[in-house]
Amino acid sequence: METLKGMERTRNCGELRKNDEGKEVQLAGWVSRRRDHGGLIFVDMRDRSGIVQVVFDASAMGTDAFHKAETLRNEFVIGIRGTVRARSDETINPKMDTGEIEIVTNELRILNKAKTPPFYIQDGIDVDENVRLRYRYLDLRRAEMQQNIMLRHRVAKLMRDYLDENGFLEIETPMLCRSTPEGARDFLVPSRLNPGQFYALPQSPQIFKQLLMVSGFEKYFQIVRCFRDEDLRADRQPEFTQLDIETSFLNQDQIITLMEGLIKKIFETTLDVKVETPFRRMSWQEAMDRYGTDKPDLRFGMELQDISEYVKGSDFKVFSSVLENGGQIKVINVEGYANIPRKELDGLVEYAKIYGAKGLAWIQYTDEGIKSPFKKFYSDETFAQIKKAVNAETGDLLLVVGDKPSVVAQALGELRLEMARRRKLIDENKLCFLWVVDFPMFEYVEEDKRYKAMHHPFTAPREEDIEFLLTEPEKVKANAYDIVLNGVEVGGGSLRIYNSDLQEKVFEAIGLTKEEAHAKFGFLMDAFEYGTPPHGGIAFGLDRLIMLMAKRKSIRDVIAFPKTQSAIDPMSHAPSEVDEKQLRELHIKSRVSSK
Ligand code: AMO
Ligand code: AMP
Repeated sequence: METLKGMERTRNCGELRKNDEGKEVQLAGWVSRRRDHGGLIFVDMRDRSGIVQVVFDASAMGTDAFHKAETLRNEFVIGIRGTVRARSDETINPKMDTGEIEIVTNELRILNKAKTPPFYIQDGIDVDENVRLRYRYLDLRRAEMQQNIMLRHRVAKLMRDYLDENGFLEIETPMLCRSTPEGARDFLVPSRLNPGQFYALPQSPQIFKQLLMVSGFEKYFQIVRCFRDEDLRADRQPEFTQLDIETSFLNQDQIITLMEGLIKKIFETTLDVKVETPFRRMSWQEAMDRYGTDKPDLRFGMELQDISEYVKGSDFKVFSSVLENGGQIKVINVEGYANIPRKELDGLVEYAKIYGAKGLAWIQYTDEGIKSPFKKFYSDETFAQIKKAVNAETGDLLLVVGDKPSVVAQALGELRLEMARRRKLIDENKLCFLWVVDFPMFEYVEEDKRYKAMHHPFTAPREEDIEFLLTEPEKVKANAYDIVLNGVEVGGGSLRIYNSDLQEKVFEAIGLTKEEAHAKFGFLMDAFEYGTPPHGGIAFGLDRLIMLMAKRKSIRDVIAFPKTQSAIDPMSHAPSEVDEKQLRELHIKSRVSSK
C-alpha cells in the first residue's frame, strides 16, 4: 500500500467550489462511487466534509497511472493530486454542493483497499437496523449519520459555552455509586475488594449535584452519562446522556428563563429557525385533561373533550356504569373522517385496548345521518347537542372512551397521536415548546400499595401543601417542571428540599421508615444540617434533544454506538458471558447454567 508522504492533504472534498477553479489540490478520502467510461473514470470521492467528483483521464495521466485507477472499488481509501476544473454547463450537478466543479487527477495513491460493504454507504438506505448496528462503523460513514453526530458535537459545545458565560462550572461526579431504592432499576457492579458488595451506576447525578450546592459551588453543570435498567423504546437507551444542571439561590422562574435562553441559543445557532421565548406553560392537570398526557404534542389540536353530561342517565349500561363509578366519557374529534372504513374502526378498538380501554365507541356525523354503536340509546337531539358542544361538523368522526380518568387519558391521548399521524395533521417543521408545571408530588402505585415520588423524592413540595404531606399526599403539588418539545419530554427538574426534617417527612410519605431513609440517604440528610442553600435544577435528555433537532424517529440515530431494543450491541456482542475465574474474583456465582 502507498502513503500520503509528499502528497499530504491540502483541502477537504466537500468544500471545493467554483472559485477554486484552476487550483491544484491534494485530497484524501474514500471512493464513494465509481463509473468507468472506457478511457475515462469518474469517482465520487468522500471525506467528512462531503463529496467531490474526481476524474481519471487516460490521455492526460498516462496508461500506468490509469491502470491503477481501474482497480479502484467502493470504499478504497485514496489520496489524489489534481486540478479543480469548472464543469461544462450540461454536466453541472445542482444536487451536489460541489456540483459545479470536478478534479482532474494527475496522481493517485491507493492508501488501502476495502471489502465490499454489506450495504451501500448512502443516505436513506432501507437496511435492517441490526445489520446497521453490526457494522456501525460503516453505518456512521453515511453522510446523514455523520451530520447527526456533528450536530451533537456542536450542541454540546454551545451548551458548554452558554453555561460558562452564565457562571456555571462543569464538575464530574462518580460513576460507581451507592444503589438507591427510588427510580428505575439500577445497573450493578460487583466490588472485588469488598466481597458481597455492589456499586450502582448512576441513574443521574442527582444527589451529588445537590451536595455540590451544599459545598457552595452555586452553579454546576455536567454533560454526563446516566444508566437505567428499563424496558427500552425508541426514545430510551440503557445508557444515555444528560445535560445536568443545578443552581443555588434561584427561584423557579429564574431557572426556567435561563434554560429558555439556552434552548433558544442552541436551536437558533444550529438550525435555521426562530425560537420565541418565553415558552408556553401549562399545569399538569390541564395537560392531562386536554391532551391525556403530561407531554402533549401541541403541533395540532384534536383535544380531549368531556361529554359525560350529555350521555348520563341513559339505558346504555356501558356509559351509565362508568359514570356511576366516578368515571368520565370523553371524545376526540377526527375532523372530516366520518367515512372511516369499518375495518379501520375495528382496528382502532384494538388499539385503544392496548392502552387500557375496555372498549371504544364512536359517532360518525355523516351526510346520511348519525352512525354510532350507541345510537339507539340516545335521541337525535342528544347527538346534536354533543355535536355542538364539541364543535363538530357533519363529516366528522368522534372517538369515544368511557372509563376512570387515568384510563380515558391514556387511551384517548394515544388515539389522538395515532389519528394525527394517520391523517397527516403534524407539521414536521413546527417546534412547540412547553413547560409542564404544578406536577403532583406523588403518584399511587397500585402494585405496591404505596405512594411514590412522581419526579424524585428530593423535589420540594409547594409551601402551601406541606401540611397535607402525610394526611392527603394526593393533594400535594411539587415545585417541578418538565420541558416538552413536540410531544417528547426533553427535560425535567425541580426546586429541591433543603431541610432534613422536610426530607424525612417526604421519605415517610413514600413509605420509607426513618431507619431505611437514614440507611440509604443518611449522608444527604446529614449534609442538610450544615448550612444548605435553597437550590434547584434540571436535566435535559441530550439524545432526545438531538433526535428532535435532527428530525429523527429514534435516539439510536444520534448516538454513535447505541444498544438495540433488547439492550444488546450486535457489533461487539455486549453483554457477554465472562470466565468462571472473573466471577470468582468478584465473589459471584451465576444462577444461569452456561450452555
Ligand atoms: P429525569 O429522570 O426526568 O430527571 O431525566 C431527565 C431527562 O433525561 C432524559 N431521559 C432519557 N433519555 C434517554 N433514555 C432514557 N432511558 C432516559 N431517561 C430519561 C429525558 C428526561 O427528561 N435528576 C433528574 C433531573 C433533575 O431533577 O434535575 C432526572 O434525572 O429527556
Ligand atoms: P359491550 O357491552 O362491551 O359489547 O360494548 C358495547 C359497545 O359499547 C361497544 O361496541 C363499544 O362501542 C362501546 N364500549 C364498550 N366499552 C366502552 C368504553 N370503555 N368506552 C367507550 N365505549 C365503549
